[in-house]
Amino acid sequence: MTNQQTKRILSGMRSSNPRLHIGNYEGALRNWVDLQNEGYDMFCMVADLHALTTMYENAGEVSTNAREVAKDFIAGGIDPEKSSIFIQSHVREHAELHLLFSMITPLGWLERVPTYKEKQEDLGAAEREPYGLLGYPVLQTADILLYKPYGVPVGRDQAPHLEIGNDIAVRFNRLYNKEVFTPFKYMIPQDESRAKLPGLDMRKMSKSYDNCIYLSDTEDETARKIKTAFTTPSKIKKSDPGVPEGCAVCQYLRLYSSTWELQWDEDRQGLRGCMQSKTECTEAVNEYLRPMRQRRAELDDAAIEAILTRGAEKAREVASATLDEVKSAMGMF
Ligand code: TYM
Repeated sequence: MTNQQTKRILSGMRSSNPRLHIGNYEGALRNWVDLQNEGYDMFCMVADLHALTTMYENAGEVSTNAREVAKDFIAGGIDPEKSSIFIQSHVREHAELHLLFSMITPLGWLERVPTYKEKQEDLGAAEREPYGLLGYPVLQTADILLYKPYGVPVGRDQAPHLEIGNDIAVRFNRLYNKEVFTPFKYMIPQDESRAKLPGLDMRKMSKSYDNCIYLSDTEDETARKIKTAFTTPSKIKKSDPGVPEGCAVCQYLRLYSSTWELQWDEDRQGLRGCMQSKTECTEAVNEYLRPMRQRRAELDDAAIEAILTRGAEKAREVASATLDEVKSAMGMF
């Protein structure tokens, strides 16, 4: 393994929504920024092709969203001078390697994936379920292995996809009798509340549950949302004891307030009411997100296009070299 390979990191976010939420940030983006600042060579991808699996009727929107997601990467701390930001469909090697991997991936591996089963249920009738949905983890594997990364920083829900990724890598090497790929590390936050951040209603934070705080929400929107957040159901009066582990407001306090231990203690002992916690939580969240919101407001569309063009060029350099190696290992010329 070359030194370059040991230092490379690849991860991505779908552009099914124009805005990232604090779950995306805690599960993934925050680690991307830390890794960037530790000197890793970061490839930050906007997965527009993956977004098409559910939004194929709105491909234009997926593309517009992709630019907005790139803005959130930068707002969240990705520095385009240090890291490459690119859109998946701009680097055609992803589609080509996906096709080649789809030939060597057993169907059974894909049918077992939990996210596939969930999406299948969401979409309802089997006739409407696109072929691309089943291949979702195969495309994700192509995304990853093209960069031969040291690790892939993601939230907990992505673990099954990463497992298939390493399984395909091993299968490829074995089939073609060549060590083209080495296993990559799963970089999932140790802290479970970050690996799977709860939403305002304590279910997993997700756009589809409408329980998100977005990085680019205004301060007022954030305040309004936190007011409606789920707290300990049995805590009716201030003096009732709270259970901070099961309270969305306390979860956010733990991440964003420097005095959360005291706040949790007071909640447990019935020394504070939920309204006080909500007010303090709003202040802490808004203070944390303020610099990101300011950075985002300063970004203009032309600058983003230039960043994405540069990012795709850099990504293509790595991706095309890997694809050549893959084809040569397979004996294709
Ligand atoms: P996506 O777009 O669903 O989510 C992007 C990232 O955010 C994380 N995440 C969360 N983490 C903690 N708590 C939450 N509530 C929460 N919600 C989302 C996800 O785990 C993810 O890390 N398949 C990927 C996109 C992708 C990709 C890749 C990722 C395409 N190719 C290659 C890594 C490598 C996805 O759907 O992420």
